Amino acid sequence: MSRLAPEARGPSRWWEPAVGYEVYIRSFADSDGDGVGDLAGVLSRLDHLADLGIDIVWVTPIYPSPMHDHGYDVADYTGVAEVFGTTADLDSLVSACHERGMRLILDLVPNHSSSEHEWFRRSRSSRDDPYRDHYIWRDSAPDGGPPNNWVSHFGGRAWTYDEATGQWWLHLFLPEQPDLNWSNPTVVEEFDGILEHWFARGVDGFRIDVAHALVKDAQLRSNPLSARPTERGGVEMGQVASTWETLEHVHDTDQPAVLDVYRRWRAIADRHDALLLGEVYLLEGDRLLRYVAADDGLHLAFWFGPLYVGWDATGLRRSFDEGVRVAAAARAGLGWVLGSHDRNRVASRLGEGAVGRSRAVALVALQVFAPGVPFLYQGEELGLGDPVIPPEAAQDPIAARQGEHARTRDVARTPMPWTPAPGLGFTAAGEAWLPFGDRGPGDTAEVQAADPDSPLSTYRRLLALRRALGGLAGAPFAWVTEDGPLLAARRGDVVVAVNTGESPMAVPGATGEVRFCTDRSCEGDAAEGFELGSDQAAVLG
Ligand code: GLC
Repeated sequence: MSRLAPEARGPSRWWEPAVGYEVYIRSFADSDGDGVGDLAGVLSRLDHLADLGIDIVWVTPIYPSPMHDHGYDVADYTGVAEVFGTTADLDSLVSACHERGMRLILDLVPNHSSSEHEWFRRSRSSRDDPYRDHYIWRDSAPDGGPPNNWVSHFGGRAWTYDEATGQWWLHLFLPEQPDLNWSNPTVVEEFDGILEHWFARGVDGFRIDVAHALVKDAQLRSNPLSARPTERGGVEMGQVASTWETLEHVHDTDQPAVLDVYRRWRAIADRHDALLLGEVYLLEGDRLLRYVAADDGLHLAFWFGPLYVGWDATGLRRSFDEGVRVAAAARAGLGWVLGSHDRNRVASRLGEGAVGRSRAVALVALQVFAPGVPFLYQGEELGLGDPVIPPEAAQDPIAARQGEHARTRDVARTPMPWTPAPGLGFTAAGEAWLPFGDRGPGDTAEVQAADPDSPLSTYRRLLALRRALGGLAGAPFAWVTEDGPLLAARRGDVVVAVNTGESPMAVPGATGEVRFCTDRSCEGDAAEGFELGSDQAAVLG
C-alpha cells in the first residue's frame, strides 16, 4: 500500500486513513549529548516511526521558551528553541518526513504565551502600552482579592497581582503562562500570521493546545462550585491539581465564540491542505461534538474518554460508544488516544507489569479500528509502563512546584529506551533531563525489533494490517457482542475483538481467518472455532 501522497495539496483530507504518533521532543532522541531530545534526534529516529507504520508525526512545542511548562510556555511563536535545534533542523525534519510519505504537525499553544514573550513584557510594562490588551488584566474585586474565583489547572488561583500596574493577570496554568485575550482582534490577527509562517515552511498542520479554552466569558463571571468534583463527567484536564475539579468550568472554558477562531483558521489551513487537530479536553460527547459537527473549523478533535477507564469491559465499551457516537454524528473527525505526555502510561493504568503491558497491546487493536485517526504516544509501542520518579528529580510543575507527586506527569515523560547501552541510545550524556526510569533491555526498541512477539513487533503487524485493509474511513463501527468481558465490533470487512475476561472466548459473527492476533501463533487459524485468550486481541475476517 502506498503511503500518504506528499505531493497532494488542496483540501484532500489526507489524514483520514492515517495513524499518528506523538513525539514528546525532550525525551525522544538527543543528538548533541546535552541530555535533552531535539529535532535532529527526531530525524535520526524517523525510520523507527516509518517502520512502525506512522503517517503523522506530531512534535510537542519546539519554540523558544523558559520551559517552566516544558515548552507549553512559548516566548516566540515563530522561532525554534536552541535546545531543540535550529530552523534549518526543522526544515530538514519536514523534508525527511515528506520523503518518507509522512506528515509533520507542530503543537500550537494559543491559549497562553510565556510571561517572557515580548507581548507580555510590553503588556505588563504599563496600563497604557498598546500590548496591554493582548492579555486579560482586571482590577481587584471590591474586597481587594482577585477579580473572580477561577483557579489554575496546576493548583491555586488563576490570577496573579502585578504591583507595578495595580491589576491582576489571568493564567489558567502557571503565572508564567498568562492567558491571551482572544476578544482582542489584534491577537486574532497575530495568530493568522503564525499559522501562515509555519505553513510557508511546509509544516502539515497543528495540534492545538487546550483548544476549548481560548475564549473566556465576556464578563469574567465566577464559576459555580462543583457539587461532586470527583464523580463529575464534565470538563477536566486530566492529570491536574485537584483544585481545578472544585469548580464547574462554565465561564472559563468552552465558550461558543471559540468556534469562530477555528472557522477562521480553517480557511487558512485549507489553502495549505493542512490539518487542524484540537486538544478539546471535554469528556462529554455532546460538548465535544460541537467542535467537529459542521466540519467548518477543526478537522479533528481528540476524544479522551478511554484515558479514564481501567481494564473494565463496561467502562471501555461506554467510552468507545461515546466516541463512536460523536464520530458518527460529526462531519469532521475524531482523533483517538490511549496516552499522552499528560497522563499515566496506558500499560500502568491497565494492570501491573507484564499484565498491564499485554492489556495495553490488546486495547490498541480496538483503538486503531475505531472510526477516526489513532494517535500513539511515544513508548506505547514498546509497552512501557510508568517508572518511579524520586521526588527530588521531579520536573513537572505539578510535582516540582505544587508538590503533588501522586499526580506527576513526569512518569509519562522519561527518555525513550532505544538500545540497552548506557544512556539507552537516547543520549550520550551521563544523565538525561529526567531519570531514565529503570528500563531493562527488553524495554528497548532494538531488542524488541528482533523479537517477533514483542509489543513493537505486534504494533507493526497491527498497523500493517490496518493499512492493508485501507478504506476504513467510511465504514461504520458496530458492536457484535452485548455486555460482558468480550468487546468485539465489526468495522468494514473485519471483526476486532478484545477479551478482558479471565477465560478464552469465541468471537461471535466472525468468518474467514485470524488476520491479526496479539498471540501471533493464532494468526492464519480459521475464525470459526477460534477462541480468544484472556487479555488478548484479534482481528478476524
Ligand atoms: C496541554 C498540554 C500540557 C500543558 C497544558 C498547558 O494540556 O498537553 O502538557 O501543560 O496544555 O499548555
